[in-house]
Amino acid sequence: MAQSTSPSPPLSQGTGLHVAIIMDGNGRWAAARGRPRAMGHAAGVTALRRIAEAAPLHGITTLTVYAFSADNWNRPRSEVAALMTLLRRSLATEVDRCVRNDVRLSIVGRRDRLPNPLVRAIESAEEATASGRRLWLRVAVDYSARDSMARAAACWSQPLPPTREEFAAILAAVDASPVAPDVDLLIRTGGEQRLSDFLLWESAYAELYFTPRMWPDFDAADLGRAVAEYRRRDRRFGALPQAAAG
Ligand code: IPE
Ligand code: IPE
Ligand code: MG
Repeated sequence: MAQSTSPSPPLSQGTGLHVAIIMDGNGRWAAARGRPRAMGHAAGVTALRRIAEAAPLHGITTLTVYAFSADNWNRPRSEVAALMTLLRRSLATEVDRCVRNDVRLSIVGRRDRLPNPLVRAIESAEEATASGRRLWLRVAVDYSARDSMARAAACWSQPLPPTREEFAAILAAVDASPVAPDVDLLIRTGGEQRLSDFLLWESAYAELYFTPRMWPDFDAADLGRAVAEYRRRDRRFGALPQAAAG
């Protein structure tokens, strides 16, 4: 069937890009330097600061990063504790920078299993940055796309299935976050080529970009290369390429 209009992505808002990043490779980065894994996670925070500052320069208005998955609870207790402390401290130290840079911060995921001091740090960071408009930085913590979808499905009690928009709204609510646009570009650092239960619904038509660069080494130039590659891709959303659509 011929298409007279160019296809538009479902659930998209605004004109800026939504980039999602699986920030992987912290542990290997540290091990390669003979340092403890926690050191790699600390270097990962520095990398995130760098990328959040560069993101608006590349047309990115929403950036969702994977900081701690629901399955990461299965790591050694000492690493989990170090990550929880790092998250709490980083939230506290980064809030002022976010306010200065007009960045809105949201944490996506379950909160009921997080330590209370971290939950309090999340709430105060979200409140302090709520008016940020230049970049919406969403940090996934205790996040599992499959668990979120299962919990969202359990919230639906109507006889007819929800529309995509309705389901997206419930999904956002179970993850304690406002609805975000669909992901345009999903980047994974660290060399693995898998999704590890990240944004499975929101990335239905995301362009995927895998790089061997370990997350602590990922810099603004790497982000620029990923976005440039994204801009060369032909997104069709199930329709025909523009030239063939007639
Ligand atoms: C990603 O880096 C950060 C978290 C999962 C918290 P890893 O800790 O998975 O680093 P690698 O993959 O072991 O190198
Ligand atoms: C995904 O990385 C989670 C985060 C980056 C926070 P993992 O290192 O946990 O993923 P797998 O185990 O290699 O799939
Ligand atoms: Mg990993």
